[in-house]
Amino acid sequence: MASSSQIIKTIDALKHTLQDLAEKGHRGFDCSAGSLEKLADWGAAPQLLSETLKNIRLDLGDCQRCRLAQHRKHIVFGSGNPKAKLVFVGEGPGFEEDRQGEPFVGPAGQLLTKIIEAISLTRKQVYICNIVKCRPPGNRNPETDEIATCFPFLERQIAAIQPDFICALGAVAAQTLLNKAEPISKLRGRFHHYKGINVIATYHPAYLLRNPEKKRDVWEDMKMLMKEYPYEV
Ligand code: URA
Repeated sequence: MASSSQIIKTIDALKHTLQDLAEKGHRGFDCSAGSLEKLADWGAAPQLLSETLKNIRLDLGDCQRCRLAQHRKHIVFGSGNPKAKLVFVGEGPGFEEDRQGEPFVGPAGQLLTKIIEAISLTRKQVYICNIVKCRPPGNRNPETDEIATCFPFLERQIAAIQPDFICALGAVAAQTLLNKAEPISKLRGRFHHYKGINVIATYHPAYLLRNPEKKRDVWEDMKMLMKEYPYEV
């Protein structure tokens, strides 16, 4: 008799097969959210039923869902470890990120890399992404409707990765993830929760470049995170 874990793995494999077929244009299979929920009801562990980052990227496609598509060079989906225990979420791609299609590769990104290394991790160990995946023109803040359009993809990415921690960089990331309107100065310095995941909010690295005296606060936030982070010994 098959064990429950073998059954769960089979259902998971079946789900991915059906999704792949659907992406290849086969329309004879029902891969709807409702059907997947039914599979979950049958006892498959939700974490095994989550999609892969590859599937989410495929679904995003050559996204034209909001006006940010008009001026972007590249969609910046996210990069790093698909099984990361820590996910950094920024606001949206800047000039260099738009040019390269990678998150946090400009000046703010170089500072983020230093922050990651200061907590004894590497960019390859964590996952880095943004609230919106296309550069807002002139690096303006993303607008509410742009965030509302893009955020479901980030939610799916987070569900696929299942990190232990999220670090929200700056007000836009923190307020969106936490569904709160408080300023970042009030949200930082303590743990919050997003769908059961620990969230720490801190200042955005671009803000730190303009206000280096705030680096001390970010270091306090990182120390809080390090105390709880499951480092491998
Ligand atoms: N600022 C962000 O919020 N995200 C990036 O990817 C780069 C700069």
